Amino acid sequence: MEGSIYRGELFYMVDSPLENTSNSYRHFIDGGLVVVDGRVKDTGDYNSMKSLYPEFPVVDYTGKLLMPGFIDTHNHFPQYEILGMYGKQLLDWLDDYTFPAERGFISEEHSSHIANLFLMELLRNGTTCSCSYCTIHSSSVNALFTAASKYNMTMLAGKVMMDRNSPDFLQDNVIDGYNDCRELIENWDGKGRNHYVVTPRFAITSTVDQLNIAGRLHAEYPNTYVQTHLSENRSEIESVLSLFPDSNDYLEVYERAGLLTGKTIFGHCVHLTEREYGRLAESGAVVAHCPTSNLFLGSGLYDMDRANHSGIKTTLATDVGAGTSFSMLRTMGEAYKVQQLRGYSLSPLESLYNCTLGAARSLGLDGDIGTLLPGRSADFIVVDYVVGQVQQSRMEYLISKDKWTLENRLFGLQVLGDDRNIVSTYVMGRCVSQAI
Ligand code: GUN
Ligand code: ZN
Repeated sequence: MEGSIYRGELFYMVDSPLENTSNSYRHFIDGGLVVVDGRVKDTGDYNSMKSLYPEFPVVDYTGKLLMPGFIDTHNHFPQYEILGMYGKQLLDWLDDYTFPAERGFISEEHSSHIANLFLMELLRNGTTCSCSYCTIHSSSVNALFTAASKYNMTMLAGKVMMDRNSPDFLQDNVIDGYNDCRELIENWDGKGRNHYVVTPRFAITSTVDQLNIAGRLHAEYPNTYVQTHLSENRSEIESVLSLFPDSNDYLEVYERAGLLTGKTIFGHCVHLTEREYGRLAESGAVVAHCPTSNLFLGSGLYDMDRANHSGIKTTLATDVGAGTSFSMLRTMGEAYKVQQLRGYSLSPLESLYNCTLGAARSLGLDGDIGTLLPGRSADFIVVDYVVGQVQQSRMEYLISKDKWTLENRLFGLQVLGDDRNIVSTYVMGRCVSQAI
């Protein structure tokens, strides 16, 4: 048997810190992560791993943190070039910047170029699993899955469906959209680590017929996921309610089309009604909370505490390009601030859970990703707790007060950390990104 032992401080979650307050993670200060054939074989103290696997070479990351790669449950790869575009809120931002940028993905060459840049950036930031929107063009989907397959990373993605209220050059139609999706599902779903996600953009840009056909696709291919946007912005909600006068609320529009399922990932969910909280919880649908995006577009403050109490599964996401950073560390930091404004002091463990094991569980992928228990894919990152003088001084201060605790270390990473703190990213035991 050939394998390797990665030595360093080892941390991964094994349960929800809200439900299992005393035993939600494993932590070895001088740990050993044993990897064989791209999978975790064993974990524990370095010395015991070394004596169990004496012949394995050791990759020494002493002083660094080894933990699972991040899961970003909502982003748009075709928006790679339009982060940080000034001005206005969601609907204008879509018209002014997003739709024009998505036009170019009719080209295979452009799609492939941006897909590769996008994935390199995710991996550089320690994200090893992504749930991404493409454009209406099949070329964009083929490009993203092809690039993800090269890294062997877990990719959930799908062709955006939209057949109204958008420029002509970005519309498909009910029949062509259905046929294109079928072909993409047949070609990509379950191939390697790729998963197809039925992706009606949001209620404003789809007719009832198209939403229905999206629901039918998911029913015909139950292995697929569904993703769309829900209750992000107040003008958006007003517009949905006037376009769908028969629905009592935004979620009901999707519900009627068969799009509210345990495999649906709803982006944002900032302004939900009582009924919507209840139905999201009952259905087992997943919320992708996108704090940097919600702040940037002035959309509002997601109520995580209320979602938790309703029994809703919250995951964390960048929502690049409305989101302003690829970094899940930054995303956790901004999630903390959003929740502070809601009167909820989000703990560093809950945040980490929401973008590792919690996200994997919500997607039904926790047998493979989100944690480093034996048998899982060796998708892990090497993290430097401290880069730069400010982080260094914070560490020295905490050490001098005897408070350099795991929680203080993790919280510091979330509030002050970013891509600079990610040293290396491994996918199935292979180093796919390495800081220079
Ligand atoms: N709602 C519909 N499309 C989009 C998008 O591309 N970004 C965001 N943030 N919200 C959307
Ligand atoms: Zn989005």
